[in-house]
Amino acid sequence: METIYTRIALQNKIQQLKQQNTVIGFVPTMGFLHDGHLSLIDEARKICDVVIVSIFVNPLQFGPNEDFNNYPRALERDLKLCTNRGVDLVFAPPAEELIAQETLVVLNVSQLGTNLCGKSRPNHFQGVCAIVNKLFNLVQPNYAFFGQKDIQQFKIIERMVNDLFIPVKLKMVKTVRNSDGLALSSRNKYLSVEQRQHALIVPQVIAFIVSQIVKLRESQSQLTQEQQEILLGQVKDMVAKIPDSRVDYMEIVSSNNLQYTEDIKQELIIAAAIFIGSTRLIDNHILSAKSCEDTFIGK
Ligand code: PAJ
Repeated sequence: METIYTRIALQNKIQQLKQQNTVIGFVPTMGFLHDGHLSLIDEARKICDVVIVSIFVNPLQFGPNEDFNNYPRALERDLKLCTNRGVDLVFAPPAEELIAQETLVVLNVSQLGTNLCGKSRPNHFQGVCAIVNKLFNLVQPNYAFFGQKDIQQFKIIERMVNDLFIPVKLKMVKTVRNSDGLALSSRNKYLSVEQRQHALIVPQVIAFIVSQIVKLRESQSQLTQEQQEILLGQVKDMVAKIPDSRVDYMEIVSSNNLQYTEDIKQELIIAAAIFIGSTRLIDNHILSAKSCEDTFIGK
């Protein structure tokens, strides 16, 4: 496996690969890899000739009071994991390779970036798009792989690719979970043993909302704002019983536009962000439009 740290070396490599008509699969990450990231690599391996992983903790997507400085970093360990997983190339640039001193042109993310995670992280998705767009321009992948765990990120990148005619096909890979249902995340490292147990409330409340909607769908096709507030209120009471926890958001949205909807027969996304101590955990479930038997594996 090759590791590249500069844009110029990467561009030279990509030029060679393109001359050979290689199908390039790309997995952008911020490192501290876990089985969730590795499942994206596995999906890429299945359909691409060459798999490229980027490891870059992107300062642009962290707010001023967020965990950029503490975000876990373990490059040597990550490189070993990538080698063992059959990755061909890792791009791990220092910040100055990707971020200019002064940026005069920025991508603006509209409605899709202002609800759910965008409410408490106002410039987050603009920062994600800025870096993913640059990475797409450098790597020129045929396919790029993202996790369902960050579904809003996926939907926004899908929109960016569509709106800017970026020639890449996107693949969304299912969330990988621990056996008790907690979605894998680099941030789970921040949790104490006790908090790790408390964190199970995240998949549990999503599972509860999913089961309630599945039941309601049998008899009604609409869930009014008032009914949604009652249901979400019940769930917030469940979270309130967990020590040192706080709901950031918990919503039932249309999977088309990630906006509030009363029509519960369509494909829905049940999404939540909950603080356990100072660690913010996110998770979601896609409830398909057709099947009412859909069950949430987050338990
Ligand atoms: P990061 O949080 O490192 O995640 C990299 C990719 O792994 C994302 O597509 C994310 O959705 C996916 N992923 C994380 N946890 C997962 C899980 N449990 N199951 C399946 N996939 C999972 O997302 C980012 O980095 C950044 O925003 C990035 C896209 C790299 C831009 O900086």
